[in-house]
Amino acid sequence: MSESRAGFGSKLGLILATAGSAVGLGNVWRFPYMTGTDGGAVFILIYFFCILFLGIPCMVSEFIIGRHGASNTARAYAKMAPKGSFWRWVGFLGVATGFLITGYYAVVAGWCLQYMYASAANQLQGDHAAIASYFTDFSASAFLPVFWTAIILLFTHYVIIHGVRGGIEKASKMFMPTLFVLLLVIVVSSCMLPGAGKGISFLFNPDFSKLNSNVFLDALGQSFYSLSIAMGCICTYASYFSRQTNLLKSAVQISIIDSVVAILAGLMIFPAAFSVGVSPDSGPSLIFITLPHVFQQAFSGVPVLGYVLSLLFYALLSLAAITSLISLHEVSTAFFYEELHLTRKKAAAIVTGGTLTVGLFCSLSLGAMSSLSIAGHSLFDVFDFVTGQIFLPIGGFLTCIFLGWVVPRNVVKDEFTNWGTLRSTLFGAYIFSVRYVCPLSILAIFLHQLGVF
Ligand code: PHE
Repeated sequence: MSESRAGFGSKLGLILATAGSAVGLGNVWRFPYMTGTDGGAVFILIYFFCILFLGIPCMVSEFIIGRHGASNTARAYAKMAPKGSFWRWVGFLGVATGFLITGYYAVVAGWCLQYMYASAANQLQGDHAAIASYFTDFSASAFLPVFWTAIILLFTHYVIIHGVRGGIEKASKMFMPTLFVLLLVIVVSSCMLPGAGKGISFLFNPDFSKLNSNVFLDALGQSFYSLSIAMGCICTYASYFSRQTNLLKSAVQISIIDSVVAILAGLMIFPAAFSVGVSPDSGPSLIFITLPHVFQQAFSGVPVLGYVLSLLFYALLSLAAITSLISLHEVSTAFFYEELHLTRKKAAAIVTGGTLTVGLFCSLSLGAMSSLSIAGHSLFDVFDFVTGQIFLPIGGFLTCIFLGWVVPRNVVKDEFTNWGTLRSTLFGAYIFSVRYVCPLSILAIFLHQLGVF
């Protein structure tokens, strides 16, 4: 067990690994399409408020539980919970959510690998309809998506079995800087296109007439998703932090990295889309259908540039997905490793096998075995809905109530290390937030998602 608790080797490693969990498909895929459908700059403005007032306090909460427990998420909650109370199950919920979402997330990450391959092989050609049918045919086929899901899970497995320092931290230190460089190359190319200015102003000039309750609630949900809240990831990584780590400061740094990547993703996509007159409000299909077409058209004068940028874009997307997948995998690996007293390798093998099975059924439910559905929705959609829109808000809500109302104040305050004279003020703001602001806001998203208002 001591090997797993060795923890991160450096502050940079800790920040990059946790930012790697946060930066993922949520930034490059979900954030741009939500910005597109929710009116641009106004959504971004509200999103930043949500990150600041809700996302950061929730991230700090998970940090507190994880570092205090210095064990997997299930046990970390149990250690803080009053003996025999139901609160320890909240940690199990985090692990279960993390496990289920790993399989589903691996399928989408696998699509990114296929698109990287397809860009390299120059297969993403033709008009919009041709690219749309490429996506539907591919995602509904039986073999290829499952193949890529297996590849990405095996790669994740390889990283995980090398431990926290030799695997997770090392991979993050390589992948995160690469991701930034790729991002910058594409942003610069996209912003230099003729007519790119319209895309930039869509991102930065708020049009308040677009504001409605949906924009607000989408921004809230996205801020949680993007910071990897309530899936056990943040809590598990925090269990590898040392007492010297300033939790609030780290949460702020990670949120800044995450938000910068999201904005850069917007700057990569919207200027190019506007320059060829493509509307950015196509929803989830934005990066798999709209974008290949945009790349092709925007750089039609220099096709080789379109080719290279498309390849770089899907490489970037795959990297972003892998670092998140690693953190998701680690949630369950740490759980099996510590609870069943297995070796890290065996625990990781159980997780890889289990999540591959989940991924297999999710992927097949999109076409080859469309009978795999519940109430008319494919298993894939059910997973997306149940984990992202039911378990995530419930886990986040309960975590805030737990730290705000159940755990003794001095235990929580004890984790506010390294703040000097600011400590009491910051702690007061934090407690107010987890007692009132966060739970009420999460309740609002949850009820809205269930259609109550
Ligand atoms: N934060 C990740 C993203 O932006 C998604 C994620 C959610 C990853 C929960 C891990 C856990 O894509």
